[in-house]
Amino acid sequence: MTTSGNPPTLFDRDYYQDPYPAFSWLRDNAPVHEFTFPAGAVTMWIITRFDDVHALLGDQRFSNDAAAWASQEFKDAGLVYAQGTPVERILTVLDPPDHTRVRRLAMSAFTPRRTAQWEEPTSRIVASALDRLEKRDRPDVMEFASTVPAEVMGEIMGIPLDRFKEMLHAIERAFNTDPEGQDDVTRAFEEIGAYGRELVAEKRRRPGTDLTSSLIQARDGDDRLNEEELVAMVALMIMVGLDTTRNLIGSAALALLDNPDQRELLRTRPELAASAVEEFLRYEGALTIGLFRFAKEDVEIGGVKLPAGAPVVAALQSANRDPRRFENPDHLDITRDGPRHLGLGHGLHNCLGAALARLESAIAVPALFDRFPGLRLAVPRSELRYNETWLLRSLTSLPVDLHGDGRS
Ligand code: HEM
Repeated sequence: MTTSGNPPTLFDRDYYQDPYPAFSWLRDNAPVHEFTFPAGAVTMWIITRFDDVHALLGDQRFSNDAAAWASQEFKDAGLVYAQGTPVERILTVLDPPDHTRVRRLAMSAFTPRRTAQWEEPTSRIVASALDRLEKRDRPDVMEFASTVPAEVMGEIMGIPLDRFKEMLHAIERAFNTDPEGQDDVTRAFEEIGAYGRELVAEKRRRPGTDLTSSLIQARDGDDRLNEEELVAMVALMIMVGLDTTRNLIGSAALALLDNPDQRELLRTRPELAASAVEEFLRYEGALTIGLFRFAKEDVEIGGVKLPAGAPVVAALQSANRDPRRFENPDHLDITRDGPRHLGLGHGLHNCLGAALARLESAIAVPALFDRFPGLRLAVPRSELRYNETWLLRSLTSLPVDLHGDGRS
C-alpha cells in the first residue's frame, strides 16, 4: 500500500456534499485514520474498510457509552448528548448486561406477527401522502419521505397527531448542531422525555394494540421494563424512527432517478422490492457513519494504537462501498445478492427497527414511481444539496416534476 497525497478534510463542506472521494482515499491510504472532529476540535479515529468496520461493530472492547468511557476532550466538547435528561440512558448507549436485558424486552414487541400488522397502515399512509404530494405546486420527494415515517411511527406508537407534531419539533431542536443553541438542546431532550412519560401513563390507563402498549406489557420471565426504561425506549423509537427512514426513501428515489434502467426494472418486476431496499441501504444508506464508539482500554487496530477513551467513527457508507467487499460498489444493482451491507449496523447495537425500516421503504419507494411513471427531477442534478449533519446522509430537498411534462 502506498500513501498518495494529503489526507482529505473530513466533515467540511465538500465532504458533506460527497464523502465518497474521502472514503476511497482513506480506505486505500489510511484505513484507521486519526483526525480532528470540527465540533470541539476533538481527536478521533475513523475506520473506513468493510472488514475493520464490521469487526469494530462487534468488538466488546468498545462502548457507545460516552459518559462512562469517552476521552475527557470529547466530554469537555459537550458531545455527550442528553445528560441529566430522561433520555440519557437510551438503549444505544447501554453496554451488556443492561443492553442485553433491555434489548431482549424491547425485541419481544417487534415480533414478525406485529410487523405484518404494520403493512396496512403503512400502505394507507403512503397512498394518502402521494395524494398530498400530487396537490403540491412544487412537489418535493423529501416532504413525502418525511411524512411517511412520521405518520407511521405516530400511528404504531399510538400518539395523537397534535402531540406528535410538538414531539417532531422537539426532535428537530434536540439535534441542532449550532453551538449557540445548546441550552435549547437540553430543553428539547427534556420535552421528548416528558412526552414519552405522558404517553406511557396514557397507555397504562388505556392499553391498545400499539407498540407503546406492547412495550409496557413486554415480559421476559418476571422481568419488565421499568418506568425510566420505558420512557427512554418510547423516546428513542421516535428519535431514531423518523429521519433514518426519511433519508433512505429520499436517497433511494434519487438513486432510481439517476439509474433509469434500475427504475424500469423495479417497475416491471415489483417482486424485486425487498432486494432493492437492501441495495438502497448499501448504496446510500441513511447513516453515513455509526454512533461514536469509545475504546474501553488501549487497543490496536490495523497496526494503529488507540488510547483508552479514543472516540472512533465507523464509516458505514465507506464500508458499504468498499471494493474489497463488493463488486463494482459504486454501481446501483437492485438484483445484487452478494455479501450483506452494514446499512442497518451490525453486532450488539444493530438496528432494532430493521423490519419496520424495510417495510416502509419497500412500500413507499415503488409506490412513488408507480403513481408517477413520468417523474423526473425539476432542478439540474448539480443543484441538489445534502444537509451538513455528521450522522445522516440527508438530502435537503428533492424537487420533482411528477408527470415529466412541466405541469408537476
Ligand atoms: C431506513 C431506516 C433505518 C436505518 C437505515 C437504520 C439504521 C440503523 C443503524 C445503522 C443502527 C446502528 C447504529 C450503530 O451501531 O452505530 C441502528 C440502530 C437502531 N435503530 Fe435503526 N435504522 C432505521 C430505522 C429505524 C426505525 C424505524 C427504528 C424504530 C422503530 C429504529 C430503531 C433503532 C434502534 C432502537 C437502534 C439501536 C439499537 C441498539 O442500540 O441496540 N431504526 N439503526
